[in-house]
Amino acid sequence: MQNNVRPTDMKRISTPALAEAFIAQQVKEVREQVGDKKVLLALSGGVDSSVVAALLIKAIGKQLVCVHVNHGLMRKGESEQVVEVFRNQLDANLIYVDATDRFLDLLSGVDEPERKRKIIGGEFIKVFDEEARKLEGIDFLAQGTIYPDILESDGVKAHHNVGGLPEDMQFELVEPVRLLFKDEVRVVGKALGLPVSMVERQPFPGPGLGVRCLGAITRDRLAALRESDAILREEFGNSGLADQIWQFFTVVPDMRATGVREGKRAYDWPVIIRAVNTVDAMTATVPEIAWPVLKTVTDRILSEVPGVCRVLYDLTPKPVGTIEWE
Ligand code: XMP
Repeated sequence: MQNNVRPTDMKRISTPALAEAFIAQQVKEVREQVGDKKVLLALSGGVDSSVVAALLIKAIGKQLVCVHVNHGLMRKGESEQVVEVFRNQLDANLIYVDATDRFLDLLSGVDEPERKRKIIGGEFIKVFDEEARKLEGIDFLAQGTIYPDILESDGVKAHHNVGGLPEDMQFELVEPVRLLFKDEVRVVGKALGLPVSMVERQPFPGPGLGVRCLGAITRDRLAALRESDAILREEFGNSGLADQIWQFFTVVPDMRATGVREGKRAYDWPVIIRAVNTVDAMTATVPEIAWPVLKTVTDRILSEVPGVCRVLYDLTPKPVGTIEWE
């Protein structure tokens, strides 16, 4: 039975040296727990699962089997980065599943936000379960559970909107970062050599871009969302804002507005920019963004993203608005 209570005298892991000591200890413990058995991990590319993957690769190498499910709702370049970092650089045993069509077909015509979340969460478990059943001799399941998950939600990660794997697919858990807070997970990730862009990633909802492509998701609006989001990230990165703002993204609503393009009337989508600062995501403020940055982002989205004719900046704090639009 693993210990799920953080010892009161446990030092906050804030330096590379403390991270190294933690890694050495976990490598030892994981090897003792797992022996020569195999471990399965759903690797989303988020901070927690990425750090767990890197830690387990160090501890048990190819005994770890990572499964990355691309649900088609990832940000631009994210799935590619997972493959590049884990398969190509860290030589991990990585199964990459492109399930885009499965998810988008199921979501077709579904416009109710909670129903969309349920479909995405449920299908994710299904795809992962199918992959797990193809493998033989798996005894353990690794998870990127962190301490706030244990404190706040009985050890179930917040993005698991539906239950876990089916009853007959229960494994013994390996949760090496379960006693760490998020900032400590990031320090450990850096010490393990993961790219800063992966370790410093802002929170990204489990249902991904699915809750930012409002209403019933269509492939063309999803493409506009992904491209505009990538432009926003690039420009906030160029202007130094990416390190100062807690979370930022674009949203594409399920409506059109008129515009003019090459002298003709166009009937295209708006893109909404959302940027917030917060400590715990329970309340949030909207930062003042320098006008030239907003203007550059706007110009680029309008010229580079097909089907978009307007760009708006959401000024709503939480409360009253939530951070996400759905
Ligand atoms: P809201 O929109 O409730 O968001 O103000 C607060 C934080 O939670 C994230 N969020 C989610 N994360 N699954 C997740 O894993 C979800 O379904 C989900 N919905 C919102 C949101 O991005 C923000 O950081």
